Amino acid sequence: MADVLYFNGRFTTTDERVVGVEDRGFQFGDAVYEVFRFMRRRPIFLAEHFRRLSRGLQTVEIVNPWTETAFASMTKELLAKTAFEEGIVYVQVTRGEMERAHFYPDEMKPTAVAYSRRFKFPDAAKKDRGIRIITSDDIRWRHCDVKSVNLLANALAKKKAQRAGADEVLLLSDGSVREGASSSFFAVRGGRVITHPLDEHILPGVVRDHVIGLALGERIRVDERPLREAELFDMDEAFITSTTQGVMPVTEIDGRIIGNSRRGEITTTLQRLLDEAEARDIAGV
Ligand code: PDD
Repeated sequence: MADVLYFNGRFTTTDERVVGVEDRGFQFGDAVYEVFRFMRRRPIFLAEHFRRLSRGLQTVEIVNPWTETAFASMTKELLAKTAFEEGIVYVQVTRGEMERAHFYPDEMKPTAVAYSRRFKFPDAAKKDRGIRIITSDDIRWRHCDVKSVNLLANALAKKKAQRAGADEVLLLSDGSVREGASSSFFAVRGGRVITHPLDEHILPGVVRDHVIGLALGERIRVDERPLREAELFDMDEAFITSTTQGVMPVTEIDGRIIGNSRRGEITTTLQRLLDEAEARDIAGV
């Protein structure tokens, strides 16, 4: 069955081909996107995702098609029309459609798309087992804080991981650990959590932000600093975070075992706290 699709103010299904070949999102990657999770037909951390979308659009000067209220009501209607209770919503806003040219007018009418999709979130066994990852050179552009649809470097890196039998790629540049190709990265050493600070090298992950707050609330120290490549193999625990993976333990990097190769204590605590925070968010408390 086709999924429900929102396109420029109306609802249809993903069976309808809606975006034109001269849409700048298609030809130039001139677009910003979001992915958020929903459970029981309710969005999780919606305000945070909208805030990041708005900031990204502002940075690249694409007109925001929604106010926060309009975005919330579009989401509500989309999820009410969706046939399943749990999944993800993909949102994309492009600069719009025009005769192909690198130059573009100041104010274009943006193309706005959102659709719901089934998604197999990691089950308890996977969350316990964790994942293996590899490292690779970060060849992305210098505005990784914008969730742009220019994901070619990310996709090529992911392919490398797939060929190596790994689940994720850790991107490294200038001797520093940045983030995963589609996740934020955290290390744990001596009871402290270390993650890259917010700057142009990483995406400000919505889950990253929550996890930092949850760790601090548990009196776990958090150092927001770039981890040096050399420190990678001297960690007690490691995990990645994202909307689709939550808090996911990393047990192996480039074939080398992290910690004791099992999910660590702090990782386990943060998994539980994130589950609880998501449940609270859905309940609206
Ligand atoms: N990816 N870093 C990158 C490069 C990402 O693509 C993502 C998310 C994250 C984690 O962000 P968040 O916690 O807000 O999901 C970090 C999404 C899930 C995707 O592209 O499918």
